[in-house]
Amino acid sequence: MRPLKIAPSILSADFAKLGEEVRAIEAAGADYVHVDVMDGHFVPNITIGPAMVYAIRPHARKPLDTHLMIAPADPYIEAFAKAGADMIMIHVEAGPHPHRSLQAIRAAGKRAGIVLNPGTPESAVAYLLDLVDQILIMTVNPGFGGQAFIPEIIEKVARVRAMAGERDIDIEVDGGITPQTAGRVAAAGANVLVAGAAVFKGGPQAYGENIAAIRQSAAAARGEMA
Ligand code: DX5
Ligand code: ZN
Repeated sequence: MRPLKIAPSILSADFAKLGEEVRAIEAAGADYVHVDVMDGHFVPNITIGPAMVYAIRPHARKPLDTHLMIAPADPYIEAFAKAGADMIMIHVEAGPHPHRSLQAIRAAGKRAGIVLNPGTPESAVAYLLDLVDQILIMTVNPGFGGQAFIPEIIEKVARVRAMAGERDIDIEVDGGITPQTAGRVAAAGANVLVAGAAVFKGGPQAYGENIAAIRQSAAAARGEMA
């Protein structure tokens, strides 16, 4: 089994003090810092750009797991790579050439990821498997934090895990992950769990407990101790 990673999404952080928030989630046990980039075009919300990634980078010790919800993505890959993103993930729906985009991410020396919207079938990644280090399966429609988990996607998680086979690919889920849903996605084969609302609720003094609750639920479903 691949190592379990918890990736808090800073979309739910206090944007007025992002550096502090990043340090707080890392101190609270985050494995990655998930950065949600939205363009108001591919998704109905606008959030973070390369300048913000660059500003956050010195505050983070853990990898920046950068989720591009932008179309087109290609013109910005280099900027996010230079800003300090560690993983760069593009949506399969963001353009006609995800294969080329993934090559560009790897050419920039970064870990490459492909993302599937809830309505996109797993077959969309069939010919991309040798170009990706991670596959992110959306368990809500992208655009906002705090939405309800879509349970039908659990089956897709299991199918994608099976398609990835023995390849060195992490399976990540994003949207509506809580201690209640974490076990179900982990049991289906997801090993990187993004969580926004469920990590940041209650403020900094609750981050440790919130991350631990998600980790425990996922670890138990994997038959491990957290
Ligand atoms: C949704 C983003 C998510 C989001 C998750 O478009 O990609 O990363 O922040 O937030 P929660 O965990 O609150 O659903
Ligand atoms: Zn995300």
